Formats: sequence, C-alpha cells, structure tokens
Amino acid sequence: MGFNEEQFKEILAEFTIDTERLQTIAASFRQDLQLGLRDVELSSMRMLKSYVGLPSGKETGEYLALDFGGTNVRVFRIRLDGGGKFEIIKRVGRPLIVPGKYDYICKESTAEQMFDFIAELIDEAIDGDHNTKYYLGHTFSFPSTQTNLYDAKLIIWTKEFATQGVEGEIANDLLVEALKRRGAGNVEPVAVLNDTVAVLLSAAYKTPDIFIGSIYATGHNTCYLESSIHDPNGVGLGGMILNLECGNFMKLIPNRFDKEYDERSEKPGEQRFEKMVSGRYMGELLGMAIAELLGEKGKNYGLTSIDMSMMILDESEHLGKASDIIMAKVGRELDYADVKKIRELASAIVIRSARLVAASFVAIIWQRAGSGKIQKQHVAVDGSVYEKMPLAKENIVKAMGELLEEDAAQVDTILDNGGSGLGAAIAAAMAVNKD
Ligand code: GLC
Repeated sequence: MGFNEEQFKEILAEFTIDTERLQTIAASFRQDLQLGLRDVELSSMRMLKSYVGLPSGKETGEYLALDFGGTNVRVFRIRLDGGGKFEIIKRVGRPLIVPGKYDYICKESTAEQMFDFIAELIDEAIDGDHNTKYYLGHTFSFPSTQTNLYDAKLIIWTKEFATQGVEGEIANDLLVEALKRRGAGNVEPVAVLNDTVAVLLSAAYKTPDIFIGSIYATGHNTCYLESSIHDPNGVGLGGMILNLECGNFMKLIPNRFDKEYDERSEKPGEQRFEKMVSGRYMGELLGMAIAELLGEKGKNYGLTSIDMSMMILDESEHLGKASDIIMAKVGRELDYADVKKIRELASAIVIRSARLVAASFVAIIWQRAGSGKIQKQHVAVDGSVYEKMPLAKENIVKAMGELLEEDAAQVDTILDNGGSGLGAAIAAAMAVNKD
C-alpha cells in the first residue's frame, strides 16, 4: 500500500507558494523593514546596527579572522593587499561538536569551555607566537546588540546553540578572557561583525555595486547598506550596514509543519522565517511530512539537508540512491512511487525556501530604491544551501524575476565564498585604521 494520494497532494500544497502569495510576503517584509526603521520595536526583525559601512577596497595589512557562527569554527591569517586583493596565509578549523567525543554547543557546556576551545584554535593559527601583536576581526554570527564595532552582546542563541553563560555577554570580552588564560593576550579583537555583514564587506571589497549581503546555510539572514540610520534619540548616524536578523521575520503564514517544528525547537516562537528556509531545518520538515504519510506522526528520522540534496540529485531511473537514504534514515523499504513522492516533497521544501529568500531580497531592493529606479546591483550570498543545494539558486532567480518583472535585469545574485573570514579581516583593518 503506497501513500494516500490525497494526503500527499495536501502536504505538497502546504509547501507551495504561488506568485501572488509571494508578492504579499515581499510586500509585508518591506513593510516590516520600514516599520523597524521608524522604531525597531515595531518590526518582527531585530535590525541591528553594525557600526560599519562599506570598505573602500584600499584596506591593507595582516589580520587574524575568526569565523564563529556554525558548528565549524575557523581561524585565518589574512593579508589584505588593497585593490580587492588578499591572500590567506594560514587557515585552521575545528568543529564545536564531535558526537561521542565533545560538544561545546549543548546546554551542559559553558562559555568558558567554548571560548577556551576557540582560543586554542587561534593559538594554532598564530603558531603559538605570544609576542607579535595581532589584530583580530571576529565574525560572530548570532543576533547581538552593538554600540560600537567591538562590543557585540549576544541577545539570544539561534541555530539550536544552547551553551550556558553566553547570552547577555559581550562575545569579544569572553574571547579576550580566554585568550589571556591561554597566554595569548597579544591577540587583540578589534572588530566584531555578523556573517552577513562579513559577506557584504568581502564582496564589496572585490566588486562594485554590492549593497546586500546574505547567508543561506545552516541559518539564514541578510544585511544591507542603509543610507540613514538613527540612534534611539533620533540622532542621525549616517549610512551603515544593518543586520536585519531576518531569520526572525514573522509576518508570514507558517504551515502546520512549521508550527509543529517550532513548538519542539530549542527556542519556540523565535526565528520563524529561518525555521522555514534554512539548512538546519529543511530536513526536519521533510521528516515530519514523511512521518505523517507513514502514519508515524511525531517520529524524528534525523533527516538532514544533505540527505535532501542527495535525494533531489538522484535522477536515476529507479531512484536507488534516494531509496537507500530513506531506508537508512526512515527504516523502510518504500516502493518506487513513494520514493518519487518523497523526492518531490524534498524539492518542494527547497523551492519554497528559495522563493521566500528571494522575496526578502526583493523587499530590500525595493526599500533601497524607494520611489526611485532600481539600481544595477549584485546581491552577495554565501552558504552551503545557496552554493550546493540543487534547485536553490535557480529558484531564487526565478522568483526574483516573478517579483521584479522588467527590473529583474538590473539584479543578480553572486556567490561570495568564504566571506566570513575575509570580511572579518576587512572589518579589523577598518577598525584599526579609522582615525
Ligand atoms: C542566524 C543568526 C544570524 C546569522 C545567521 C546565518 O540567523 O541569528 O546572526 O547571520 O544565522 O549564520
């Protein structure tokens, strides 16, 4: 007995967004943005100030860059040569979690353990040299409040991180303490920035006409250059990159799977948009849909976005690879027709995700253009979903075309691979040379 056809069609429809609904979503995103520019309390997004603008492209010097925002932490030594040129002199990296061995992102781990682990990695990047002065740019990719380029205070963990003692703290202070404990006080963090801001800096360092930077990976978020930012007292701060934290955008309609997943996530009620689009969650949504089709509601098969991408990439006649993944994770040998349906659902989840991301890009493009013409530009994007997930990129392009119509020719998206590292080095250079 295969899946119930009616039920399958109904689930597929839950994950389908037509052009009209997409237009509504883009418009409501733009409205939320406008509300937030007036008064941040009115927006569902956090809209965080970065205290940095676009680079001139002339930044030079050697810097350390820490990329901390997902399960893999990386540290780079980067030499900026100006004119958009740079060289990575050294690169080290290690996961924050190795199942069965250690886990620095779970509830039981502490800030001290986590930052000691990071300090050890930084020490490796400088080959244990505790004499030379190193300036460090820190890409810290979680929602943080800043009052300057150094002091990002973590508001709330996202992406299912749960380490104790970091929320409410200034990330760079925790890092400085850990570096001191290690005897590496010669490393001085001088700038902190979100990964979206890092991607924007990195892309804009190399290429003109870039004002929007986005991450489409484990998490999802976007920043852009806003020309008029005000402090809470209404004093103008000029142009600045604004980290939207749009993973928290909420003014859209989640389906019943989105709602159910949210309820059992680490942070219910938070990051509703991100839970619909990013790599951390797409596999979970697919698993929930499969469980419903199999009459095992509530079961978690541990499907990941990598499983999804492999299923979608399987275009073979018998869908052997897709069946194997389902067998391994779901524990059932399904017939061809059902495997095909699961593959179709996986595609629908990815396409929905790409369309929603595209709607948010278009909203920002509209906002930047105001009542004027849309400027020729590239949207810089980094992240595994954008880079590797089949159907993602092409559906962003398609959806942007549906929303922008004739203006679509003005805009494209470009991959900025590794921007989190380079962007951190650029921010460090901008901090050190600002006077
Ligand atoms: C989450 C974080 C955000 C980050 C994004 C991508 O949404 O809250 O700060 O930019 O993930 O890593």
